[in-house]
Amino acid sequence: MFHRTVFNRLRATPNSKWCSHVSTSELSTIGSRSRGSVSKKKPPDTKFVQKKRSGRTRCFSVHSNGSLCKLSIAGIQQKKLDEKYISMVTAYDYTSALLADRAGFDILLVGDSLGMVQLGYDGTEKVTMDDMLHHCKAVSRTSKNSFLIGDLPFGSYLNVDDAVQNACRLVKEGGMDAVKLEGGTRVERSIAAIVDSGIPVQGHIGLTPQTATQLGGFKVQGKTAEAAVGLYEDAMALQKAGCFSIVLECVPERVATEITQSLDIPTIGIGAGRGTNGQVQVFHDVIGMYDRLQPKFAKQYVNTSDIICDALSSYREEIETARFPDESHVFKIKDTQFESFRYAAGLTVFEHDGNMY
Ligand code: KIV
Repeated sequence: MFHRTVFNRLRATPNSKWCSHVSTSELSTIGSRSRGSVSKKKPPDTKFVQKKRSGRTRCFSVHSNGSLCKLSIAGIQQKKLDEKYISMVTAYDYTSALLADRAGFDILLVGDSLGMVQLGYDGTEKVTMDDMLHHCKAVSRTSKNSFLIGDLPFGSYLNVDDAVQNACRLVKEGGMDAVKLEGGTRVERSIAAIVDSGIPVQGHIGLTPQTATQLGGFKVQGKTAEAAVGLYEDAMALQKAGCFSIVLECVPERVATEITQSLDIPTIGIGAGRGTNGQVQVFHDVIGMYDRLQPKFAKQYVNTSDIICDALSSYREEIETARFPDESHVFKIKDTQFESFRYAAGLTVFEHDGNMY
């Protein structure tokens, strides 16, 4: 009964404007990248979303003229209004950014998951600003078509000043279009300050890996009515603080769908079911390249670990059996040059006046 009253009160709260912290016109100044007009429509209705899902509706960043190019913040938000799904994947270096860019993703996230899949840590807590900048630079050097978001690592936004300063570094030095940070009401002041400094912010609530220990481990969040209300309130606070979108990680599908429908800004789900406005996955999970953790929500589309391992084993075997390199891999030198070289280096034996030299 108590919960129903709370839910009704929360429902009765009118939806904030397009983005309550800033008006639509201000939105186009948040980061010089935000351009384009936004028309306000009803948010997607669940049934419609799910029907489209089962019909495998897909949406790439193909622009009206058919070409692939980078979406603006307004363009990303417009996808929610147009009931089109936002596609996002992580990328950490030249190779992954190139491939993800070519595959046509709306957003590439230089996630602090790089601590696990690139640096071999058990979690994300040890990732530093220097680590993030190193990888952000590689991705921004490479990707031309996707909107780029860089994660603020653990400890880099403990107070408002640090948050603004480090967000600026990810944009100025790392070449990111926006930053993402984890947390709900606890970080709303930092988010508002970063947005005020001109940098678009993506929020991240639910399972927040940087503080997973505090959450009792890598667990689904929002499974009780009370916890779900907490998530709802966090989501509303992030929207109010000026986030242009929110990642919902490991949240029951129905809770994520309700939150999505209550927000004006888009949600991107990871383990949050089918009712969010987009999906994000870790690159290495999608291509089957990380063997230490296989979360239930991850879908492996190919097992590149096996393919790569087979290729490496074949290479090793060919070295050991002298089958690599073969004729096609070697470089040639003209006979005359070769003989001169052997003569000059004293490697050749020749006869002169009956003497052997
Ligand atoms: O760091 C990361 O890769 C992330 C995504 C999983 C959302 O935060």
